[in-house]
Amino acid sequence: MNTPVPINIERMEHIKRIEFDRPRVNIPGSTIAGSTLSVDHAWAKVFTEPNPAERIELKARIKRLLKEQNAVLVAHYYVHPDLQDLAEETGGCVSDSLEMARFGSNHPAQTVVVCGVRFMGETAKILNPEKRVLMPELEAECSLDLGCPPDEFAAFCDAHPDRIVVVYANTSAAVKARADWMVTSSIGLKIVAHLHAQGKKIIWAPDRHLGGYIQTQTGADMLLWQGSCLVHDEFKTAELIELRKQHPNAKLLVHPEAPASIVALADVVGSTTQIIKAAQTLDATEFIVATDKGIFHKMKSAAPGKNFIEAPTAGNSATCKSCAQCPWMAMNGLANLALVLENGKNEIQVDPLVGLRAKQSIQRMLDFAQGLNLTQGQTQIPIITQAPGTSEHGIGPA
Ligand code: 13P
Ligand code: SF4
Repeated sequence: MNTPVPINIERMEHIKRIEFDRPRVNIPGSTIAGSTLSVDHAWAKVFTEPNPAERIELKARIKRLLKEQNAVLVAHYYVHPDLQDLAEETGGCVSDSLEMARFGSNHPAQTVVVCGVRFMGETAKILNPEKRVLMPELEAECSLDLGCPPDEFAAFCDAHPDRIVVVYANTSAAVKARADWMVTSSIGLKIVAHLHAQGKKIIWAPDRHLGGYIQTQTGADMLLWQGSCLVHDEFKTAELIELRKQHPNAKLLVHPEAPASIVALADVVGSTTQIIKAAQTLDATEFIVATDKGIFHKMKSAAPGKNFIEAPTAGNSATCKSCAQCPWMAMNGLANLALVLENGKNEIQVDPLVGLRAKQSIQRMLDFAQGLNLTQGQTQIPIITQAPGTSEHGIGPA
């Protein structure tokens, strides 16, 4: 066997600073979760693209290593197109966070390599504690996860013992362990509507925009943690209205992590998979898309011949976060993927007790989905919003 050429990962990276809104719970017993927002700082590695020869070599090396290690690759739609293609070419999958985890559970491979951000790797590990879960980067964060520290969140929940705790998938294992339910963007609205119908009052964390959207649609009594996604927060309403005037026949597809003023303009509000399905099924040839631009790779292959336009942000030069590209998803690359398969480092670890508790909140969601007959691959319920000013909205199976 040839000795592998060492991968010089340092040559390919530099560090950038990232600002995000950090909710603070500074009033014990406050009814507004995280009522004070302050700017906090994080960082992400920025990779230089490998040159064409390196790219070919790395892809071949990853394919060989996946076989040798009995490993399967699961990737999110926001990661680099090379990783999405590799996942599909090698029998893995590209999907949203829930399906990524479920794919790992149902696949016989003993090693699951998650290309995404840390909470996705943790969810895969929680659902598959007996498997080895690796990630190209353990430091790939998420501003929603960073903005919801487990100890502060637990204190807030303790101050409101009369409320059911529902958390979004974009949280740490410890926050999921404190919750009664974990939901994803594809099924959160249905679950909250179900809890509301039972007369339950809810604590929702961490995304204030997704929580606000669900609250408006269901009328549920919800206390909202004030976190946000630094990518979706950047879409600009006035510029979007202008863009729509230039493309009057385009349908607007929006992820519910976007602010309410953007969601209010949408033709379809949905998770990443729902957005892709809408592009395939809607009778339109042009779409404006308000989510991370990594999704365009899959959208173009899923709906060939259709035209996709990025919803406006403040622009690449405005701040490092306003380019509609998650800086942490972008930390996944060919070089660090090959490296982790070679050295087995970057294994996700979840404290077994925390994992057991977190699994209960995830399992509730999976059971609920099954009860709706929404089994593997079908948890995606399109959330169709009508044009502003009309009172109807429809929720129906894909
Ligand atoms: P989806 O579950 O819709 O893929 O969203 C995950 C995410 O992090 C969006 O920013
Ligand atoms: Fe988190 Fe936003 Fe990145 Fe999704 S796009 S992982 S919500 S920071």
